[in-house]
Amino acid sequence: MDSVNPNLHNSDNPKMKFTNYLPLLLTLLCLAEIGFLFRLESNHNYSFFTDPIDQKISGLVHNCGGAGESCEEWLEREDNVAYSRDFVKQPVLIAGREEDWKSCSVGCKFGVYKKNADAAFGLHKENGTAGILRSMESAHYFPKNEISVARRAGYDIIMTTSLSSDVPVGYFSWAEYDIMAPVVPKTEKALAAAFISNCAARNFRLQALKMLENSNVKIDSYGRCHGNRNGKVDKVETLKRYKFGLAFENANEEDYVTEKFFQSLVAGTVPVVVGAPNIQDFAPSPSSVLHIKELASVEPVVKMMKHLAENLTAYNESLRWKYDGPSDSFKALVDLAAVHSSCRLCIFIATRIYEKEEKRPEFSKRPCKCRTGSEIVYHVYVRERGRFDMESIFLRSGNLSIEALESAVLSKFKSRKHETIWRTERPESIRGDEKELKVYRIYPVGMTQRQALYKFSFKANNNSFKSHIISNPCAKFEVIFV
Ligand SMILES: *[C@@H]1O[C@H](CO)[C@@H](O)[C@H](O)[C@H]1NC(C)=O
Ligand SMILES: *[C@@H]1O[C@H](CO)[C@@H](O)[C@H](O)[C@H]1NC(C)=O
Ligand SMILES: *[C@@H]1O[C@H](CO)[C@@H](O)[C@H](O)[C@H]1NC(C)=O
Ligand SMILES: *[C@@H]1O[C@H](CO)[C@@H](O)[C@H](O)[C@H]1NC(C)=O
Ligand SMILES: *[C@@H]1O[C@H](CO)[C@@H](O)[C@H](O)[C@H]1NC(C)=O
Repeated sequence: MDSVNPNLHNSDNPKMKFTNYLPLLLTLLCLAEIGFLFRLESNHNYSFFTDPIDQKISGLVHNCGGAGESCEEWLEREDNVAYSRDFVKQPVLIAGREEDWKSCSVGCKFGVYKKNADAAFGLHKENGTAGILRSMESAHYFPKNEISVARRAGYDIIMTTSLSSDVPVGYFSWAEYDIMAPVVPKTEKALAAAFISNCAARNFRLQALKMLENSNVKIDSYGRCHGNRNGKVDKVETLKRYKFGLAFENANEEDYVTEKFFQSLVAGTVPVVVGAPNIQDFAPSPSSVLHIKELASVEPVVKMMKHLAENLTAYNESLRWKYDGPSDSFKALVDLAAVHSSCRLCIFIATRIYEKEEKRPEFSKRPCKCRTGSEIVYHVYVRERGRFDMESIFLRSGNLSIEALESAVLSKFKSRKHETIWRTERPESIRGDEKELKVYRIYPVGMTQRQALYKFSFKANNNSFKSHIISNPCAKFEVIFV
C-alpha cells in the first residue's frame, strides 16, 4: 500500500501550496470569528487538537465550505485520478485453461497468450507476466506448495489451501455441499463411520483409528483401510445414520481441510477430526467438532464420544447449528468461496496492477483529506470482499474509529441497496433478511484471509486505526458482510 505522506508532498509542491493558500486564510478568519483556540506555527502547520496523533496530521489541509462545496464533494473530485487501464476495455489476461465461472466484478480473460499475459500458470520468465502456482495438495506431500518454498522458487502468486496464500483455493463452498441439509435419525448401532482408503498416511491417523477400536468404540469402516463394511455406498447418505464421522486427513496441516470434513457437516454427523491443527476455525459452531490433536487426545475424545452417545440432549447440542444456523465466523469463511477462485485471482491481479499505478505522482498528490470547521475529513475506499470496485467513505477526525468506519460503511452500502456477494450462494435458511447488512470484518486491502478472518483487528486499539488512516492516504479496505 502507498505510504507516501501527503503533507510532505503538498508542501513541496508549489501548485498545491497556491491552491491551499486562499482557503487557509478564509478559514483562519472564520476560526478567529468563532473564537477557536489555535496556534499558527512558524512552519505554517497549525493545530487545535490535543491528541498527539491529531497534531501529527495537521499541516496544510484544504479547507472546505468556502465555495459552497462540501469536503466530501471536493475530495470525491480531487481524489478521483483516472487509472490508465480500464479492465472493461483491457481485461486482465491470464495464460491458462478457461475456468468454469459465471461472472466476475473485474474484466478478465483466460486463454492462450504468449507475451502480453498479466499472469500465467507455472514459472514465467516473460517480463511483466506473473507466475502462478495453483494446487489443492497438501505441502506435506508436495513441499513446493509451502508458501515460503514457492516464493523462493519464484512464483509471484500462490493459490493453495492455505488461507495465508494470495488466493486461497479451499475444498469448501455452499455450492458443493448442502451444508444445511436436515439431520436424520441415527439408526446405526456402530458409533462412527469411517471412509479411509489409504492406510499409508504420513500422520498418525492409522494409530488413532487403532486406538479408537481398542477403546471399544464400534466403527463401521467403508474404506479399504480396516474395511469391515461394503464400500459401495453413498458416502453422505451413509454418514447421516451415524452419530460420528471420522474425518481423518492424511496430513495435519493448517487450513488443509478436505471433503471428508465437509461431507460430515452435510450429513449432520459430528466430525471426529485428525488433520488441520486449526480445525476449530472451520467448525460451524463452538463444540460441534471433536479434534484428535495428538495421540494423547484419543482418550479424552473417546470419553466425549461415549458421553455424547449416551446423553441425547448433549449430543443434540453439538448439532444445534443445523437448526439455528452456523456461526458468523463459519459463514464468513465459506462465503469466501461464493466467488470462484479464478475470479478472485483476477481481482488479486487487477488490484496489484492498480497498486503499482498508485505509486505514480498523480496519485501521491491526491489530497485524501480536507478540513471543515474544526474537523478533518478523511477519504477512504471500501469494497466488499470478492468484488473489485471501491466505494468512497468519509471519516471525521473527531471520530476516527473502526466503529465509525463500520457505521459509515453500513449506511453507504445500504443506500446503494448493495447485494452481498453470497446472497444467491448461501442456503436460503441462512441468508438472513435481504435489507439487513451486518459487518463481520473490515481490514486493509492486501491482507491474507488468515489475517483478515482470524488474526487481525483494529478493535483492540483505536490508535492503531487512526495511525493507519493517517499514514495511508486514501486507505483501501475490504469489508466482509455476514
Ligand atoms: C526485462 O526488463 C528489463 C528491465 O526493463 C530488461 O533489462 C530486460 O532485458 C527484459 N528482459 C526481457 C527478456 O525482455
Ligand atoms: C445431559 O446433557 C445435558 C446438556 O449438556 C445436561 O444438562 C444433563 O445434565 C446431562 N444429563 C445427564 C444424565 O448427564
Ligand atoms: C434437537 O434439537 C432441535 C433444536 O432444538 C430440535 O428441533 C430437535 O427435535 C432435537 N432432536 C432431538 C433428537 O432431540
Ligand atoms: C462515533 O461513531 C460511532 C459510530 O457511528 C457512534 O456510535 C458514536 O456516537 C460516534 N461518536 C462521536 C463522539 O461522535
Ligand atoms: C474506539 O472509539 C469508539 C468511538 O470513539 C468507542 O466507541 C470505542 O469504545 C473505542 N474502542 C476502544 C477499544 O477504545
